[in-house]
Parts: sequence; structure tokens; C-alpha cells
Amino acid sequence: MDDLSTIRSEALSAVSAAADLAALEAARVAALGKKGSVTGLMKTLGGLAPEQRKEFGARVNQLKGEVEAALEARRGALSSSALAARLVSEKVDISLPARPEGQGSLHPIGQVMDELAAIFGEMGFTWADGPDIEDDWHNFTALNIPPDHPARQMQDTFYLPPRADGTPIVLRTHTSPVQARTMLRPEVQKMLADGGALRIIVPGRTFRIDNDATHTPMFHQVEGLVIDRTTHMGHLKGCLVDFCRAFFEIDDLPLRFRPSYFPFTEPSAEVDIGCSWKDGELRIGAGGSWLEILGSGMVHPKVLANCGLDPEIYQGFAFGMGIDRIAMLKYGISDLRSFFDSDLRWLHHYGFSALESVR
Ligand code: PHE
Repeated sequence: MDDLSTIRSEALSAVSAAADLAALEAARVAALGKKGSVTGLMKTLGGLAPEQRKEFGARVNQLKGEVEAALEARRGALSSSALAARLVSEKVDISLPARPEGQGSLHPIGQVMDELAAIFGEMGFTWADGPDIEDDWHNFTALNIPPDHPARQMQDTFYLPPRADGTPIVLRTHTSPVQARTMLRPEVQKMLADGGALRIIVPGRTFRIDNDATHTPMFHQVEGLVIDRTTHMGHLKGCLVDFCRAFFEIDDLPLRFRPSYFPFTEPSAEVDIGCSWKDGELRIGAGGSWLEILGSGMVHPKVLANCGLDPEIYQGFAFGMGIDRIAMLKYGISDLRSFFDSDLRWLHHYGFSALESVR
């Protein structure tokens, strides 16, 4: 009997002292395992007289039940406190300030394209597109650029392998091929025949073999084209004066139209804007100097004819401008190459927020 009460108190205190599930398992083995103390008491039953066995057996069974219940209770307590400890240590601290989200910005080229579209849009121009990869008919021939013209040379133009039928293919060297593509569209021909007017701008990528601080092999141009029966050089001039003043946000920006030559316009003019150089710093506006910013002219009768329009009936003007160049001038960017480096610090500095978009 003494034995039993000692074993009982030892087993129960081992259970209640167990600090974790491993210690509890050790206490279980010590009492109820094969060589455990309670199991040892069971084994003594066989050697007892039947009278004694019955009474002592009942007490040992009761003890076994008591130890099992204590183990169960302790196991429950330990696992809920283990869970509580995990909940505390693994808590998500929702009071931490959120990591700052990297804010994107609009690339100055995209921004300037939107600005162009907004200004020309108010004058009735719509945005037209064409492929970056062109055949030489659209890029050169349709535009009255003769076969021996230096612009066609391999030093200037990226040639791609010819098509299966032998057609020479280039990366377009200007946006002017979209003039031809647009004039040739049947719905445009019909609209013009019905007395309508064509007014498009074509912002897009262009390619030439050139690479320095003011030339990259890929750059951007915007083409403009107006065709109807009455548009003359006065309209060309008014349109470009209005555009430049709106774009550079200078109401009295001086402009100079200088006679020039392009195979696809006649007469042709290059346009300069007034500027000044003070302490090596360029300022757009009044001043003693001029900066060339675009080429323009009245669409050449041969181009109209090449594009299926009768030059006796139709006329109009065209212009072409470097988007990267006017973006550099407006936003004070000194190296053209930085546009295409994808340097995030540069993009954050020169980029525009969505709220500054003119779209
Ligand atoms: N395509 C010419 C260039 O790339 C620009 C231009 C376009 C000139 C339309 C006149 C008319 O230099």
C-alpha cells in the first residue's frame, strides 16, 4: 500500500512538473511504459492471493486511470500554451508602417507624344500608325527618294534580309512612309473624293545608323500630313507656328522658315525657333540664335501621284520633327542617350506623374 501511494505521488508530480510535451512523454513512460512504475504494480498482481488481488487490482486500475487522466489534462494544457506561445512569437505586427510602393512615372518621350497629340488634336489631327519594319517602296520610292539618294546607303539605313520575292526591307528611317500608307488606304481615298480633308500625325520609332550624344540608332519622330483641295503654305506656316508656341508654352516664340530641300516636298522649309545662349545655358524664346527643330513642305506632286491621288486636284503639306529633340529642349535634358538607359533615378527625375499627363 505504501508502495502504491509513493508511486502515485511520484507519477502525478512528474506529470504536473512536465514543462513540455517531451518531458510529459518521459513521465508517461516512467509510469505506464513497459518498465513503468504503475505497470510494475500490475505485474505484482499475479503473485497475490485471489482475495488480495481483487482489492489491490482495483486500486492499481484506479491509479492507472488517475495517471492517464492527469497525462491527458497536462497534454491539453501544454499544447494550448505551446500554441499561445507560437501565437505570441509569430504575431504579425500590423502596426508596422507599410513598405513604400515604388511609384512609376511616365517616360518623357511618352509624355511629349501625349502633349503633341493634345495640341494637334485640337487642330483636328488624328493619330496614325505604321510598321517599324518597312519595304523600301514605302520608305523611299513612294516618297520620291531616287535610287541613288545617299539616305538609302547602308551606312545610314538598317537593311534587313529581303523578303522572299526580293523586296528590300529596312527599319524605317523616318515616319514619312506612313504618309504613303495612309493616302493609299481606300477609305481615305474615298473620304478625299467626297470632299473631306486628311489630317494625321504619326508619332513613332525611327532608325538610323548613328550614335553619339545627339543621335541614337533608334529615335522618335512625329510626322504630320494634311491633304485636301485648298491647303497651302500659309496653312503650313500657321499650323507650325501655333504648334511650337503651344508646345514650348511661349506665346511670342519667334520662328523662322528657311528654304530647304526634301525629295518629297516642294517647296520645302526647315523651321528654326528663337533661342539664346547665356553663360552656356540654352534658353528657348527671344534671343540672337536659332535652333532647327523640324522639316516641312508642300507634298510633292509625284508623292501624291505615287499614292493614287491626282496632283491636279489634291494638295497639302507635311512636316517631320524629332520627338526626342523637342523633349530635350523643353525639359532641359542634355544627353539623348539617357532617354534609353532605363536608369530608374533618371526616370524618377525626368519622368512625369500620372497627374501631369495631358491624356
Ligand atoms: N522625313 C524628314 C526627315 O526625316 C522630315 C520631313 C517630313 C520633312 C515631312 C518634310 C516633310 O528628315
